[in-house]
Amino acid sequence: MASTSIAILGTGTYSPEKVLSNDELSLSVDTSDEWIVTRTGIRERRIAAGTETTADMAASAAADAIANAGISASDIDLVILATLTPDLPMPATACLVQQKLGIPEKAACFDLNAACTGFLYALDTAWAMLESGRYRHALVVGAEKLSTMLDWNDRATCVLFGDAAGAVVMGASRNSHSGILGSRLATIPLSPDLLWVPGGGSSPATPEEPRVIRMKGKEVFKVAVRAMEDIAREILEQHQVTADQIACVIPHQANLRIIEAISHYLKLPMDRFFVNVDRYGNTSSASIPLALHEAHQEGRIRPGDLVLLVAFGAGLTYGGALVRW
Ligand code: COA
Repeated sequence: MASTSIAILGTGTYSPEKVLSNDELSLSVDTSDEWIVTRTGIRERRIAAGTETTADMAASAAADAIANAGISASDIDLVILATLTPDLPMPATACLVQQKLGIPEKAACFDLNAACTGFLYALDTAWAMLESGRYRHALVVGAEKLSTMLDWNDRATCVLFGDAAGAVVMGASRNSHSGILGSRLATIPLSPDLLWVPGGGSSPATPEEPRVIRMKGKEVFKVAVRAMEDIAREILEQHQVTADQIACVIPHQANLRIIEAISHYLKLPMDRFFVNVDRYGNTSSASIPLALHEAHQEGRIRPGDLVLLVAFGAGLTYGGALVRW
C-alpha cells in the first residue's frame, strides 16, 4: 500500500437555510413528489439566498473544517476549491475564501473544475502537493450555487440539483494508521452534450445555448454506474482490499438508484453506503465532502475504518479514493 502519511484531519459543511421540498417545486414545475422520489430518491434540496455566493458557502464549510481539524486559518498554506459555479471568472473563488478566513498570503490558492468529480480531483491534487513536502496544510473545498445554473422550467434537470459546500483539511497524519491510501482519476471522452452547460463561457450564452445545465439523463445514468463500479474495483484490486473490508462508501450523491446499482454490482449491501441525496439532491463538487462530514458526525466512520469515495460528473470525469480513517 502507498504511504499513509497524508490524512484528512478535519471535515466541515455548510448548507443554506432555505429548504425546497418536492411538493413546493411541484407548484411551479410539472412534476410530483412521487415521480422525483421514485426516480431519484430526492425529497428536498437547499437553495442559497440571492446574496449568498459560492465563496460565502465555501468559507463557512472551510471554517468548520479548520476548527474540526484543531488548527487555525493561519496554518493553511494551500487552498484548492472545486466548483463549476465560481463567484466570478476571476479571481478564483479560492482567493475569496482566503480573504474571508484570513488565510496567510503565503498560501497557494486556486480553483479546479472537474464537475461533480471536482472534489476528488482536488483531493488527489492536494495529496500530491502535500506529499511533495512543499505544503503543510491543505484546505480542500467543494462548493456550488447550482440554483443559478438551472432552467427552472426544465423538469428533467431542475428537480435534481441543490446548493451546498463541504470542506476537508489535509495534512500529515497524526497517528500511525490514518491516511489517503490511493486515488485514481479518469475521464471518458464522450460527447459533451450528454451533460453540459451549453453557453456562458467563451461561447456566450444565447437563447439556443443558455447558461443552464442540460442532460441526457438515461445515457448519463448508465455511464455513471459503469464508471463508478469500474473505478471502485480498480482501487480495491490495486490495494488488495475486498469490498467487504470497506466500512463505508461515500458515493457522489446524484441519484439513489445509481447508488443502489453500484451496491448491487459490487455485491456490497446498501447499509455500507452513506446516502443523503434525499435531503440535498445533487450538489456536484460539494456532494462528497458534505456526505463525508455527515457520515463522520453520525458515527458511520470510525478510526481505522477503510472508506471508499467514488464520483462521476460531466466530462465524463470519474474518480475514486481509498482512505484509512
Ligand atoms: N417529473 C415528472 N416527469 C418527468 C420529470 C419530472 N421531474 N422529468 C422527466 N419526466 C418525464 C419525462 O419527460 C419522460 O416522459 P415521457 O416518457 O412522456 O417522455 C418520463 O418522465 C421518463 O423520463 P426518463 O428520462 O425515461 O426517466 P428516467 O427513469 O431515466 O429518470 C433521471 C430520469 C434524470 C432521474 C435519470 O435518468 C437519472 O438520474 N439520470 C442520471 C442523471 C445524473 O445523475 N446526472 C448528474 C450527473 S453528475
